[in-house]
Amino acid sequence: MIMRGCPRSEMDKRAHPGMIASPGWCFAPITHDMSARLQSMDSYPIIKNIHISCAGLSIVGFVLRSAWVPCGSPSAHHRLTRVVPHFIDATLLLSALGLLFLSAYRPSGSDWLIFKLMGVILYIAFGIVALRADCTMGQRAIAVVAALMGFTYIVVVALTGQRWPFA
Ligand code: HEM
Repeated sequence: MIMRGCPRSEMDKRAHPGMIASPGWCFAPITHDMSARLQSMDSYPIIKNIHISCAGLSIVGFVLRSAWVPCGSPSAHHRLTRVVPHFIDATLLLSALGLLFLSAYRPSGSDWLIFKLMGVILYIAFGIVALRADCTMGQRAIAVVAALMGFTYIVVVALTGQRWPFA
């Protein structure tokens, strides 16, 4: 049984004994095999904070690199600049997978994640164009703005749980 449209605050989760909250604004009944997940729910807020922190570091890193590359700044080619973003992105994805596992996310409960992933693809694609050395200033400016808009869209979908603006 999946219940849609329920609020997802911690208070609401506690107010539904016998149900586990999925991140997709739905509640699924607790089954025996989910008890282990429930026991590890304490780690959910920690992983979520790691996820949000990595998202913040990702956009700060992108803004810095998109400023350094056109200026020809040596910082753009620094070893840390080349390595750290991969570490942040990997942690962002792993923490996302951890959240999905702990919350027993069910795609049938809500399709917000699909819209969020489409935003992630746009963010990555425009981010790659924006950081290319061989594009014009005009192309770079468009790509930077589009990547920032993609990132904003991801955050809005994450915070609202809606397929915004399609919901
Ligand atoms: C640039 C990429 C991403 C950004 C900026 C981002 C941002 C966020 C934010 C701000 C939250 C917190 C939402 C809240 O407080 O309710 C969140 C939660 C979450 N994100 Fe992401 N995220 C990104 C990528 C991903 C990916 C790729 C996945 C899945 C594969 C994912 C899965 C989740 C899940 C499951 C939650 C928990 C939702 C909840 O507990 O309500 N995220 N994300």
